[in-house]
Amino acid sequence: MSLPKTTREYRLPNPEGFHNLILQEAPIPTLKSTEVLVKIHAVSLQNRDLVVANGQYPVGQKDNLVPASDMAGEIVAVGADVKGWKLGERVSANFALDHVHGVVTAEIRATALGGPVDGVLTEYKAFPAHALVRIPEHLSYEEASTLPCTALTAYNALLGGNPALKGGHTVLVQGTGGVSISGLQLAVASGATVIVTSSSDEKLEIAKKLGATHLINYKRTPDWELEVLRVTNGRGVDHVVEVGGPGTLTRSAKALAFGGNMAVIGIMAGLAGDVSGLPLIVLGKAATMRGIQVGSRTQFEDMNRLIEAVKLKPVVDKVFDFEHAVEAYEYQEKQQHVGKVVVRVAKN
Ligand SMILES: NC(=O)c1ccc[n+]([C@@H]2O[C@H](COP(=O)([O-])OP(=O)(O)OC[C@H]3O[C@@H](n4cnc5c(N)ncnc54)[C@H](OP(=O)(O)O)[C@@H]3O)[C@@H](O)[C@H]2O)c1
Repeated sequence: MSLPKTTREYRLPNPEGFHNLILQEAPIPTLKSTEVLVKIHAVSLQNRDLVVANGQYPVGQKDNLVPASDMAGEIVAVGADVKGWKLGERVSANFALDHVHGVVTAEIRATALGGPVDGVLTEYKAFPAHALVRIPEHLSYEEASTLPCTALTAYNALLGGNPALKGGHTVLVQGTGGVSISGLQLAVASGATVIVTSSSDEKLEIAKKLGATHLINYKRTPDWELEVLRVTNGRGVDHVVEVGGPGTLTRSAKALAFGGNMAVIGIMAGLAGDVSGLPLIVLGKAATMRGIQVGSRTQFEDMNRLIEAVKLKPVVDKVFDFEHAVEAYEYQEKQQHVGKVVVRVAKN
């Protein structure tokens, strides 16, 4: 196969909303000896991509960015010094290119795709070989494109730290978006009992089909932490996948069991909220709060082994064609999805 010389890519010249995205043709730079060229088949979106499109990414973003961080594709060229990768292999790239193992640093965070560095909403992209992972064999490119950020974040939250999830634990996930549905699926796959909150009864029914045991509509039950305590016979949960932020943190802490673990991930419920009582709740329960910054390539490989072992199928809500990526952003923004919104990049 002769290699293409150009790629069609989206760019964000004006970071004042995703309607400013433009699709253009650009040359594919000469491959460095340590890089691998990937034909991108699918890209998944997430809440972060909306934040970036509005120019509000808290750790800074590149000018005139190629957006998005999560892709699955096929290797079409391998640099002369690359070992361990061959043509045709199906791969994803880690969210932060240089996060190979261990704890994130400011330098590693500066290599996050679709933020500080150009992302993956393009037909072809060169990646440093050390950033790549093989995608699970039973997954399509569209399914595999959902894994790099939100799924790995949920994996790290539940299984990547200490205390880690054990079979028999109880897990609370908030809402039915990308992070939370992955959290639900990974927790069920690990032998946990899962409680899901959502604004929608229809979405809760989907969560039930995915293995959730307890369903709470947080609009109808604003004191949902009391319901969590009720359904756990007063014990509380071992893990909270906390995507609400200051608007939900205090209730989440109240829902914890003694010795429980709260993974602090997102701010979907907004930045307003009284968190002054939080230290005493966490202290009183000998609980742990851990901030999550997605995960390392090593954790990505660990997660993929679990996904392979249980043949876990990520939840793809809707797929949009590459030319309609802006509509995919619109759909993501409406929050009507359960799981993930995907852009199909390659036609074959
Ligand atoms: N720290 C990290 O490494 C990391 C990585 C990935 C994502 N994040 C963050 O995690 C959050 C979720 O991202 P995502 O891409 O999974 O989002 P998403 O797919 O857009 O899902 C968002 C969901 O959050 C739920 N939600 C909204 N307001 C809520 C509230 N007040 N209380 C509880 N749930 C609420 C809604 O679920 P229902 O419609 O079911 O109510 C909504 O569908 C974002 O804040 C994102 O920035 C952080």
